Amino acid sequence: NKENSSSRGALIVLEGLDRCGKTSQSSRLYKYLDEQGYSVESWRFPDRNTGVGQMISSYLANQAHLDDHAIHLLFSANRWEKRMLMEEKLRSGTTLVVDRYSYSGVAFSSAKGLDTEWCKAPEIGLLAPDLVVYLDISPEKAAERGGYGGERYEQLEFQKKVANSYLTLHDSSWKVIDATLPVEDIEEKLREIVLDSMTICQKGKPLSQLWP
Ligand code: TMP
Repeated sequence: NKENSSSRGALIVLEGLDRCGKTSQSSRLYKYLDEQGYSVESWRFPDRNTGVGQMISSYLANQAHLDDHAIHLLFSANRWEKRMLMEEKLRSGTTLVVDRYSYSGVAFSSAKGLDTEWCKAPEIGLLAPDLVVYLDISPEKAAERGGYGGERYEQLEFQKKVANSYLTLHDSSWKVIDATLPVEDIEEKLREIVLDSMTICQKGKPLSQLWP
């Protein structure tokens, strides 16, 4: 373990459209950091293991119908039920690599036509990421990647709207990586920016909250 007891871990978030490669990059990154001896965990949202997560899962599988506002709040609640643990992990020096976070929450719900500010409100007070990496791919290219899995949001027309919503959320602190690059190139770029962010956190960057 390369970290000392007084330094905190970094909250690293990966975002992007469905099939942008986030999940495989998250696990590669996790594996790399773990092998390097860092204290690190791989998280994802929705976390389908909780009671709320199971409701979300059946909604996504089209087994349950829910009002757009209601499902939005469930996605948010799913993050809130993990907030305390998240803070404990970070303060004890563990870096968290998180596949999707509040930005997915806002991007997907506002793509349905819900008001962006309304969508952001329940996220206020969750921990702000130290780094947001956006894996950038066009909806058309993403759709070509062996087709979608058949969950509720995995449709080209909807993903186009999500891409536009993400654009409104980007700020200058986001790191954008071209998700059509070879997997190893993405992996290398990701490692570099993540290690930078971890160093800044180790040096005492305070934890902050959404929305900064
Ligand atoms: P997953 O494929 O990464 O497990 O995510 C499932 C779907 O849920 C994906 O289409 C994105 C969507 N989503 C939301 O709509 N709101 C959220 O807050 C999150 C985390 C995901």
